[in-house]
Amino acid sequence: MPLPSESRADAERAGVHAAAGPMGPTECEASASGTPSDSGTPSDSGTPSASELAAAMRRAIVLSRNGPAWGVNPRVGAVLLAPDGTVLAEGWHRGAGTPHAEVDALSHLGDPRLALGATAVVTLEPCNHTGRTGPCSTALADAGVSAVYFGISDPGVASAGGAASLAARGVRAVAGLLAHDVEQSIRPWLSAVRTGRPFVTLKWASSLDGRTAAADGTSQWITGPDARSDVHERRGRVDAILVGTGTMLADDPELTARRSDGSLLPHQPAPVVIGARTVPAGSALARHPEPLRHYDTHDLPAVLDDLYDQGVRSVFVEGGPTLASAFVRAGLVDEFVVYLAPVLVGGPGLALGDLGVPSLPDARRLVIDSVDPVGADVRIVARPAPPAQPAPPAPTPALSAPQKETARVHRNH
Ligand SMILES: NC(=O)c1ccc[n+]([C@@H]2O[C@H](COP(=O)([O-])OP(=O)(O)OC[C@H]3O[C@@H](n4cnc5c(N)ncnc54)[C@H](OP(=O)(O)O)[C@@H]3O)[C@@H](O)[C@H]2O)c1
Repeated sequence: MPLPSESRADAERAGVHAAAGPMGPTECEASASGTPSDSGTPSDSGTPSASELAAAMRRAIVLSRNGPAWGVNPRVGAVLLAPDGTVLAEGWHRGAGTPHAEVDALSHLGDPRLALGATAVVTLEPCNHTGRTGPCSTALADAGVSAVYFGISDPGVASAGGAASLAARGVRAVAGLLAHDVEQSIRPWLSAVRTGRPFVTLKWASSLDGRTAAADGTSQWITGPDARSDVHERRGRVDAILVGTGTMLADDPELTARRSDGSLLPHQPAPVVIGARTVPAGSALARHPEPLRHYDTHDLPAVLDDLYDQGVRSVFVEGGPTLASAFVRAGLVDEFVVYLAPVLVGGPGLALGDLGVPSLPDARRLVIDSVDPVGADVRIVARPAPPAQPAPPAPTPALSAPQKETARVHRNH
């Protein structure tokens, strides 16, 4: 069903671009812009208004968070809207092997005929791939949906192409609705699929003067119970936790995700130890519910490649300064989560060692995403700053008359 021109103008104000029209596919562009800016007037033209579409996408993002943050599949949410903009059904993806968000939403329609002429709002481009479930693009077209608005295009090699497939079936597919918000909500998964390696979060807990251990090597506990709970909650959202053999031998960590009463959270990240030294038979890691993966190497890209091949999309690096610095030096950190405790330790136990920064202009610049108090401590989340753009060439200043004269004199010498 073509969009009436009024609704199309609404959609353009909402920051979306047509990916495919009813007459066939056109170029699919994802908009970087965010929220719609229309008056919020409900549509009376038989298609949802821009504000209804944007509200549905915000809801779809919230719904997507019901799904698991770990694993090979992204978190996706979907909302089905009637032509008058009212919500018909909602859905989200519950993890690998379960129905995708669009199919989940379709299954919640009281009467399947309600899908005829409906608009689907989905955080990610509907997949075009038959895996353990069928292609969502086919399911939506078969159901009679007339338009699909999505946040960002599917970067997957096998799963992409849903928009073109919808268009071939006469369904209008529009990319870029609240693209920035969607991008942020599934940043680790997107990063992993785009780079072909797991999203790496480097975490440490340090004193205010940047020490992660005292001179005798003790580091438990620098931060308080609230910060430690926060770490466990974050561990419960990733696929794997990585430490070096140094931390494994010094701290004998369990590397589990636990509640404050010590019980295990429902999802446990796989424990990973990197380094040549042997893991002692009686170590706490032997009690981890997931099997230990021990890489006898210092080749971090190779470790990440192998983990990616095994379905790992997000890792938490909780090693000591040696492993942490090696990850930073190799440019393999996507996110920093640093807990700062109001305590001074002094001495040599710094959070990071040599980063290959000979001089301040070479320092690794970060962008702070958030700063939050966590109990008596502070949590800072940061990411590497984007590479600086080369400065445009300075305009050649016009020479004043005396300068021109001087220049001529010099040339004559
Ligand atoms: N406060 C915190 O947040 C925190 C967190 C973790 C640890 N810590 C403290 O940190 C201290 C341990 O520090 P650490 O630096 O020895 O631990 P680490 O970084 O976890 O382990 C270092 C070891 O990892 C191996 N390794 C693996 N990949 C490497 C690479 N690419 N480059 C270099 N080495 C690599 C090497 O051992 P091999 O010789 O076996 O190959 C190396 O000696 C302990 O005191 C611990 O309590 C504090």
